[in-house]
Amino acid sequence: MERSLMNGAIENRMQKFMFEGKHIVVGITGGIAAYKAAELVSQLRQRGADVHCIMTTHAAKLVSPITFGELSGHDVTVDMFANISHWDVEHIALARLADLFLIAPATANIIGKVACGIADDMLSTTVMATKAPVLVVPAMNTNMYENPIVQRNIQTLREVGYTVMEPEEGHLACNTSGKGRFPKTEAILAAAEKLLFGRHLLRGKKVIVSAGGTQENIDPVRYIGNRSSGRMGYAIARAAAMEDADVTLVSCTKELPVPEGVSVCYVQNARELKKEMDARFEDSDIAIMAAAVSDYRTKTEAKQKIKKEAHDALQIELELNPDILYGLGQKKTHQFLVGFAAETNDVIEHGKEKLVRKNLDMLVANDVSQKGAGFNVETNIASILYRDHTMEQFPIMTKEELGRVIVEKIAERL
Ligand code: CTP
Repeated sequence: MERSLMNGAIENRMQKFMFEGKHIVVGITGGIAAYKAAELVSQLRQRGADVHCIMTTHAAKLVSPITFGELSGHDVTVDMFANISHWDVEHIALARLADLFLIAPATANIIGKVACGIADDMLSTTVMATKAPVLVVPAMNTNMYENPIVQRNIQTLREVGYTVMEPEEGHLACNTSGKGRFPKTEAILAAAEKLLFGRHLLRGKKVIVSAGGTQENIDPVRYIGNRSSGRMGYAIARAAAMEDADVTLVSCTKELPVPEGVSVCYVQNARELKKEMDARFEDSDIAIMAAAVSDYRTKTEAKQKIKKEAHDALQIELELNPDILYGLGQKKTHQFLVGFAAETNDVIEHGKEKLVRKNLDMLVANDVSQKGAGFNVETNIASILYRDHTMEQFPIMTKEELGRVIVEKIAERL
């Protein structure tokens, strides 16, 4: 059975901007990190969100509401009893509008108020009235953060279903160092994305993903490599983490930012990659070999740089590397094993053959000779082949989108 399809769920996610069409209310409270929320609001809007800001009166003393007004493109609400123009009852309107409610930065004061059900200003009343998921981003002095009352209040918020991020450790505005820093914007965006789009598809699952191209040394300055950027593997790792999996990337590249919540182990050559994948395989539920592995390595690695004076012509003898994926297929028990096939001709035929030979559950095949597919481009054109001899063909999409499709398809077949 061969199908060419785009189901609704995937189509909905095929959007250029992750937050497009989403209404996000950002509550800004009076911590020094209020200025960092400006970058957060800007990034949310750049990624397509319709952002509305509510500031507490203390926050408005630290950063002008004009800043957040400009960055969000909407009037900023500060005082509950002023500026009610187009909203009927503004806190109810914003509470209803929100697909996601963010409080960033969240002071000990707002955390305490919300935990105790106190609603005495625009932000606390609106958050009380919303049914949207709430993401709380605490930022404060370490001693305040560690205070048992604050910790108890955070626990209360978590128990009622709010998501409370862990602050970072580092230098604090009070000139001390410790836990309490406002997290990086990327980390907050990832948490927001997870709350909006994550469906817990891989909750409790351990996933290992290999990514990038291996490098086989010729001498201390030269190597045999390939054009793989690692983007496909990183996109899969990111998508799996968004679905609540415990993800480890075994990465042949250090060039890409590690997705939030993903552990990474760096390797260089095929033998190192095999060692790390083998070591983690037994304990994993899903293994995905997205790395482009060099089939050959040099038989001997020159200890010193090879000088051209010594050679009119140079021959480098190569020997076969182990097929890592084949090895995993041989020892597979409960694991769901996914391979890739980068082909230039007879893509499906070669893909089917590899799926069977390597004992895979799923194989992502792509024709790297096509424009928009393969190495070092942002997009891919894939067919997914399954163990039961069915397959699905997908149109051109970004590697981020394909990563999410692959994760959905794995989850469907687990
Ligand atoms: N792979 C591997 N170890 C290797 C070579 C490839 O684990 N030494 C994995 C890749 O990570 C990929 C799959 O095998 O998931 C297919 O890789 P590909 O290069 O397309 O196929 P090969 O098996 O190497 O076959 P060929 O190069 O002859 O097409």
